[in-house]
Amino acid sequence: MTSALVDQLRADLGAAHYSVSALTGLWGREADAALRRNQRVPAQRALDALRVRLGRAESSATLAQLFVLGLPVSRADLAAALPRLGVVGAQALGLVADEAPADAPGTAAPAGAPATETGTGPGGPGTPEAAALLRPLIELRPYSFVDEHGAGSWWIASDLGELALGRALGETHVLGVGGASLTLSGLLIPARVATALDLGTGCGIQAMHAARHADRVVATDISVRALELAAFNAELNGIPNIEFRLGSLFEPVAGERFDHIISNPPFVITPRTEGVPSYEYRDGGMVGDALVEAVVRGAAEHLTPGGIAQLLGNWEYRTDQDAFSRLDHWLDSPDAPAAPAPAPALDAWIIEREVQSPALYAETWIRDGGTRPGTADFDRLYGAWLDDFEARDVSQVGFGYMLLRRPARAETALRRLERLPGALGHNPAGIGSHLAACLAAHDKTAAMDDARLARTRLTVASDVTEERHYWPGQEDPTLMTLHQGGGFGRSVSLDTALAALVGACDGDLDVGSIVSALAELLDADEGDLAAELLPSVRGLIGDGFLLPPA
Ligand SMILES: C[S@@+](CC[C@H](N)C(=O)[O-])C[C@H]1O[C@@H](n2cnc3c(N)ncnc32)[C@H](O)[C@@H]1O
Repeated sequence: MTSALVDQLRADLGAAHYSVSALTGLWGREADAALRRNQRVPAQRALDALRVRLGRAESSATLAQLFVLGLPVSRADLAAALPRLGVVGAQALGLVADEAPADAPGTAAPAGAPATETGTGPGGPGTPEAAALLRPLIELRPYSFVDEHGAGSWWIASDLGELALGRALGETHVLGVGGASLTLSGLLIPARVATALDLGTGCGIQAMHAARHADRVVATDISVRALELAAFNAELNGIPNIEFRLGSLFEPVAGERFDHIISNPPFVITPRTEGVPSYEYRDGGMVGDALVEAVVRGAAEHLTPGGIAQLLGNWEYRTDQDAFSRLDHWLDSPDAPAAPAPAPALDAWIIEREVQSPALYAETWIRDGGTRPGTADFDRLYGAWLDDFEARDVSQVGFGYMLLRRPARAETALRRLERLPGALGHNPAGIGSHLAACLAAHDKTAAMDDARLARTRLTVASDVTEERHYWPGQEDPTLMTLHQGGGFGRSVSLDTALAALVGACDGDLDVGSIVSALAELLDADEGDLAAELLPSVRGLIGDGFLLPPA
């Protein structure tokens, strides 16, 4: 019964061209940008104007008004927008409910708009029943993406946001696709695997992405409602290879291992104080960053050898301890107390993207919960956050990406913790392939001694450019920098020898021959020059500037 309704909904949404680009076409880029700031007035005005111009409601506009802007629409308009599913079907799926007239937070049509001609609801066109309003019970937004497998578009259901509710979110709110979701989905390594786990699936977005490269995906959450919405989203978008399981952290997958673990966990650090709201979607209910630590420690015993976990996280800097030394400790002793056998230390590549002071962190997350600055509540919560941070001597909070790997071979062990604030490179299909290529390059060079590296022929990656600065009138550059166009958009300063070596890496000569020629040219000792250059060459390979042969 439900599946038949979902089939009808899918057919209706497709026929209505309910897509990201169609909505931008309806209301324009400025309204899109305003919506990202949680402001719907520009989009609403554009839809009102369109309706007046056309003399009727466009199906995609009706759906957008209801499911994106969170405003009611008339029964007749919805019946026209969802001709197969119908209003009764939409109600049965829990998408809409009758709007009590006095509760209406907005209007379905601008004043003076013509009565709809397309009503097929009970009572027929133009009747009071057809004009009765329906309000949304969920958000249902089109979502589009490009990944290594190509372009795709889905529809994603989630709980109503602040706009539609007209108040702060509830503590059990199921979030739609947000900024952090996009960050993580853009990091996913697209390599074909047998099994993947999405821990804390929410609306299911990461599991759906994982289902493009994994034969079988398990998606977990502590929220029954999240799992229901995620299962609905998978079915609506015709994704059959996800299994949904209820439970906390790794409980639902005890004893199982996965090739790819993905998690955008509820990493927000929240005081465990009476009267401080605890939102399921962002707060794991533990003290400080203990939830992120639990995910990291649990990953080791749930990854297959060589398997990779990719997470987002927050981590605390304590006055007497750098966050990276705390992270190192999580990685070195990854066994959960209940682990049946000791797991090896994890390989890790952790990239910190930003740090915030306790005050800024508190302000960010109190506002995110819908409490406005300048109110007594805001000040009370602010105090609770600062008390909580002070209790653990927290000086800063870091945010970033974690890539963990259950080591397949001891000689390719990786432990790389780095701070990379600022813009990434240009990666239209996400950065996952770059991460995979860097890992593969690391493994290759880690297994090579210097003599083998010297026998390797390298090429310069196609996204790499060199910038040179000269003092006026001078022939030799004073500053040379290598820039990476994609990936992390890294820049590396070059000295004369390294610049010359990189310039000669066209796949013809091996590294040793280039160093030898340079030593002669620069009148330097070949051994000394090799000892100086080879570590830099390893670094440039590991960061994707120089490519070893395939
Ligand atoms: C930040 S949301 C991420 C949702 C989605 N994966 C995404 O990327 O947009 C975190 C999710 O973790 C769930 N969650 C909270 N505590 C959890 C726990 N202890 N174990 C598993 N999931 C949990 C929440 O219900 C929520 O759906």
